[in-house]
Amino acid sequence: MQNLNDKYFVNGIHIEEKVFNVEEVEQLRTAFYEVLDICESYRAQKGVVSGMDNTVHHVLFMRKIFQQMIQKDKNKKILDLFFDEKKYILNSLGGNNNTKANYASNIHRDVRFYTQDRLMLNSIWCISPLNKNTGSTQFLLNSHLNESPPTQKEFDDSCISIEADVGSIVYFDSRIWHRAGKPIEGLRERIIYTPIYSRPFIKPGFNYSLALQESEYFNDSSDLVKQLSSYFSDIPQSHLDWYGFNERRFYLKDQDQ
Ligand SMILES: [Fe+2]
Repeated sequence: MQNLNDKYFVNGIHIEEKVFNVEEVEQLRTAFYEVLDICESYRAQKGVVSGMDNTVHHVLFMRKIFQQMIQKDKNKKILDLFFDEKKYILNSLGGNNNTKANYASNIHRDVRFYTQDRLMLNSIWCISPLNKNTGSTQFLLNSHLNESPPTQKEFDDSCISIEADVGSIVYFDSRIWHRAGKPIEGLRERIIYTPIYSRPFIKPGFNYSLALQESEYFNDSSDLVKQLSSYFSDIPQSHLDWYGFNERRFYLKDQDQ
């Protein structure tokens, strides 16, 4: 297998091992089922009946463990390298327990526009292992530099299936072409979280800044959690907010540097 331990993302992928210890993995696993109940109750309220089974969305402030784990030094180090020491935010933090093949089994990439610059990074927190049994993601290395998708044959001939242990994080440039693998029949559990990060001038998938300010965690939150939550690249809600720049600037000038 080609080198996937490249923090500089020459191939478009990097796997960081042993980010979460056994206890942290277990806490994240327990938290998954707790926030799944919460997300299912929201879906029930809104009459969402299909397509989202075993999936959770935007969980950062549902449990403290997510804020603690996202700030891990090993995680931040890779994010800093990918974004070239520039500012970045969280675009989304969800997860799933997919034990069967799903829509992501077709060749796709996780960003709908193409840029030459690196603007977005996907990651997978391995609460379960990723391997042939659990259906590991298949990637076409270096394809993040190609605007057009590969043909089915090009992909089939050259794709690689990644393997990652429990506690690892798999990072991949959001431009890379990939597809989900197929788990074996009868697999009981395959929990992953899938944080996505971007430069701050890309609109995030959820108003994490508001969620943070309305949460019990705001007063004690670190600058890193505020940064990830777009608190420093925020939008004024009103003219009084906007004219109140002596109290708080909503979009700091360092965000685009
Ligand atoms: Fe994907």
